Order: sequence, then structure tokens, then C-alpha cells
Amino acid sequence: MNTLIIYFSQTGGTLKVAEHIRDGIADMTGQCDLANMNEADIASLADYDLVGLGCPVFYFQEPFNVRSFMESLPQLPGKQWFLFSTHGSSWGNIFPLMAERLKSKGITVIGYHHTYSDSSLPYYPYPAMTHGHPDAQELGEARSFGRELITCSKRIAQGDESLIPAPDHVPEDWVKISEMYTPEFMEQELPRLSIDMDKCTLCKDCEEGCPVDGIGVEEDPPRIQQPCIYCWNCAKICPVQAIEADWEARAAAVRENFAKYRKTLDEAAERGVFRWCIDPDTIDVDDPLYKQLDRKVKEEQGRNPPAQDA
Ligand SMILES: Cc1cc2nc3c(=O)[nH]c(=O)nc-3n(C[C@H](O)[C@H](O)[C@H](O)COP(=O)(O)O)c2cc1C
Repeated sequence: MNTLIIYFSQTGGTLKVAEHIRDGIADMTGQCDLANMNEADIASLADYDLVGLGCPVFYFQEPFNVRSFMESLPQLPGKQWFLFSTHGSSWGNIFPLMAERLKSKGITVIGYHHTYSDSSLPYYPYPAMTHGHPDAQELGEARSFGRELITCSKRIAQGDESLIPAPDHVPEDWVKISEMYTPEFMEQELPRLSIDMDKCTLCKDCEEGCPVDGIGVEEDPPRIQQPCIYCWNCAKICPVQAIEADWEARAAAVRENFAKYRKTLDEAAERGVFRWCIDPDTIDVDDPLYKQLDRKVKEEQGRNPPAQDA
């Protein structure tokens, strides 16, 4: 049985889960390839009996580059795929949306798996409430999921269609939020980025870290958010904080909602599906990541002031 796992991961959580699912599959079959989505060879997908696709939840759905990837797939009638995701407190409508897109390619989704994972957005406090995830238990569960998939895949291939799962029920408010976050809404409502060329050192980390090739620092004028999936990776990884935005409006909304996210996780902990790896009382909700990064750069510059022109 020939198996492949395709993943999109920026901060490593989804990759960790992908590796453990791969180990579980390999326990059963001795083989499972792993490919970064940006390097996946679409022409070879038909050679695989089972393919997994995994990504983080962004804005209660799959990131737009993952959506484009699914839209670019050829028809793969009768092929079995499975889906996995990582997320903070709320995974939203990701699986129904992804399953629908794969179904339109003739693909049968035979498994779903989701895992809490650390999260970092410029306007959220860091560490996040899901810091420390995926933990050892979740990684063990990912491996078990991989093993069980193989048994399930074989039985479905033999005709036992009763084993084909539907995605879990998604609460109506999560569906509504995912529907609100259209590309048009994001373009209007989410922060607009700019590059301060006085600060930029042309290191190009932002260009390399942009999953959709949306940045060109040496273009005239410099290009940013063209296109954009609103992952903010560029702003997080810029070593000199040259990528700027008005983060405060979003940070204020996060501060307002923080108790709500905490309640969601407290309830998940009560149900035994989440464990606190960090004491949430130690998280400073007034200190979002963008402020922390600003301080870090200023401290660094204080230690090593930029050389002055003669
Ligand atoms: C732009 C952005 C949007 C996010 N939106 C959500 C969300 O709607 N719900 C959620 O639970 N987590 C959300 N997260 C948290 C990510 O799903 C989480 O950090 C993910 O595990 C990161 O995966 P990676 O480490 O493989 O990159 C978001 C993170 C980012 C960066």
C-alpha cells in the first residue's frame, strides 16, 4: 500500500503531527512518504492508494493557500484521502469545507484528526493558551490514528462503506465565523502591512517565509500582501521589525475575547480532551506578541547599535 502525507506548517505543530501519523502508517505498512505542500508533486498523486493532507486552522477554516492547492488538484476518482489539522481553541468549520472540496475531485475522505497546537499571532499574547501542544499524549494519538487508518482503508477498499466517516458536527457560530472570513472581508478588515525601507536590511527572510510569494522588497515600490493569506508570518519573522501594521485594534479585540477562549479550553479540559501545559493565569493579555518583538529588536539594537555612516 503506497501512502503519502502532504502538510502545510509554519511553526512546526502540523509537521510534528504529520510525522507521528506517518510513523503510525509505517508501523503497519513499512512505508509512508511525507511532502511539504509547496513541494508536493501533483502529477504523482494518482500513484498513491492513500494520501493525507494536513494544515493549521486559520480563521476557522483552511488557509487560503491550502484551499488553492485543493482547487488545483486533478480529478482523482475513487482515491482515498484523510485530513488532519492543528489549532488553538477553536477549529471551526475546517473539515466540512476541506472534505467538500476533495469530494468535488472524486476523492473519498476516510479519516479526520485534529490536535491542539501552540499558536502565535502578532496581536495575541504569547505564549498562547495552547502552548506546549501537541503534547506527548496527542503525538501518541496521532500515531495510533495512522495505524487505525490503514485497517480502515483496507476494509473500505473491500467495500465496507459504513466505515467512511462524516466530519464531526460543527457548532453554528463556528460555521458563521468561517463564512464571515472571506478573502474580501479580510482585505477590508484585517491589518494592512507596510515595509519600512529605512529599517529593512534586504535579508529577504520575509520573502522566503511567505507561502504565497506575496512580497518583493526590492521591487519599486516594495510589494507586500500581493497576494496575502493573512498568516502574518512575515511580520513575525522579520529580524528588525520592518514590517509594520496597526495591530492595536486587533489586540484590543483579543483582550476582549480572551476570557471566552479560555472558557472554551477550560470546558475541553473538563471533557478530558485538552490539558493545560501552561498556567493560563501567567499569560499577560496586555502584552501581545508584536510588542514583545518590538522590545526584543530594541534591546538587540541597544546592545549592537547600527553603524553610522561616516
Ligand atoms: C493567521 C492565523 C489564524 C489562526 N486562526 C485560528 C483559528 O481560527 N482557530 C484556532 O483554533 N487557531 C487558529 N490559529 C492557530 C493555528 O491554527 C495554530 O497556531 C496552528 O497549530 C499552527 O500550525 P503550524 O505550527 O503547523 O504552523 C491561527 C493562527 C494563525 C497564524
